[in-house]
Amino acid sequence: MAERVVLAYSGGLDTSVGIGWLKDATGKEVVALAIDVGQSGEDMDVIRQRALDCGAVESIVVDAKDEFATDYVMPALKANALYQKRYPLVSALSRPLIAKYLASTAKDLGANSVAHGCTGKGNDQVRFEAAVAALAPELTSLAPVRDFALTRDKAIEYAAMHNLPIAQSKKSPYSIDQNVYGRAVETGFLEDPWNAPIEDLYTYTQDPAVTREPTEVVISFDQGIPVAIDGVPVTPLQAIELMNLHAGNQGVGRIDIVEDRLVGIKSREVYEAPAGIALIAAHEELENMTIERDLARYKRTVESKWAELVYDGLWFSGLKRALDVFIDETQKHVTGDIRLKMHAGSAVVTGRKSTQSLYDFNLATYDTGDTFDQSMAKGFIELWSLPSKISARRDLAGK
Ligand code: ARG
Repeated sequence: MAERVVLAYSGGLDTSVGIGWLKDATGKEVVALAIDVGQSGEDMDVIRQRALDCGAVESIVVDAKDEFATDYVMPALKANALYQKRYPLVSALSRPLIAKYLASTAKDLGANSVAHGCTGKGNDQVRFEAAVAALAPELTSLAPVRDFALTRDKAIEYAAMHNLPIAQSKKSPYSIDQNVYGRAVETGFLEDPWNAPIEDLYTYTQDPAVTREPTEVVISFDQGIPVAIDGVPVTPLQAIELMNLHAGNQGVGRIDIVEDRLVGIKSREVYEAPAGIALIAAHEELENMTIERDLARYKRTVESKWAELVYDGLWFSGLKRALDVFIDETQKHVTGDIRLKMHAGSAVVTGRKSTQSLYDFNLATYDTGDTFDQSMAKGFIELWSLPSKISARRDLAGK
């Protein structure tokens, strides 16, 4: 029996042509694997059939939307994960999930290698291959676009020559990756970082400049996870889908950033992640109310490390696993309701309540009912500033 390779298949030009290229270059049979992470667009059945028409021996589609939302996006929400304080890791979150299915499918079908359609300039090649290495070290990773220098022009030529059923007519000037958590758009005129994004880049968000009534929702969290919106129970996937609508309609979640890629390149990226930005704003504020001060402060440093690890393709690493345990521990009391107002591109918390609240009205109030003993503050400050006072006596002496 011929050797087999499992290809992460998107249905696009590069991976469609990649089927033939892999076969020609390696003599292996190609199994196409398409993972539905809520990228919408084309019907997954059409994509499945296209892989067969392009020469795959087998074509598999996995609906992983719920798994993606629950096991990949929710940990990111608990971590308030934003790379460079802005990017909610949309693409970076889907890669380890896809890699997991590549590895398990290869095992099931007796393949000794996997493949992806990434170029050699991006983060995604690293994420796929590092995840596969961590899950199935015996597998080899192939990257036809990168390793056989498969340019776009060559791909179009190959598709025409072999009569592949892949439309080249509506060639998009952008490289787009999308899933239920958001969209990433790069290349084209965006490569000049001075060029402003134009309206037709966006599909998950409406123009925030258009005047409309604000939207208000109440999001209920249980241990850091959204479990109801306006009192209606939701799964993680439903929470993301619903918040994409609410926040997207208000133009929330557009991001335009020059980003530091793992391979050393600075690149200009445009994202839209309405649910991500809105849910993180809500979740973070509930943490402010329910997590004690030092734990909350320390968690912020863990959050940025977590985001960098995931961005850098180390989802399946010991450090990431250990940080997950820490983050889960912090979420024990992150239960309660957040009222979120979305309007003109911003999502702002206007109310919070929790049975786990550490907010004590009687300590906070300046009105009657105050139980805070202000006389204690004087001695506290004396001791708090004692080290500064002692060192100042030395350092300022004789000046
Ligand atoms: N720069 C982002 C990241 O590394 C998005 C990559 C999206 N991929 C794409 N083919 N457009 O996570």
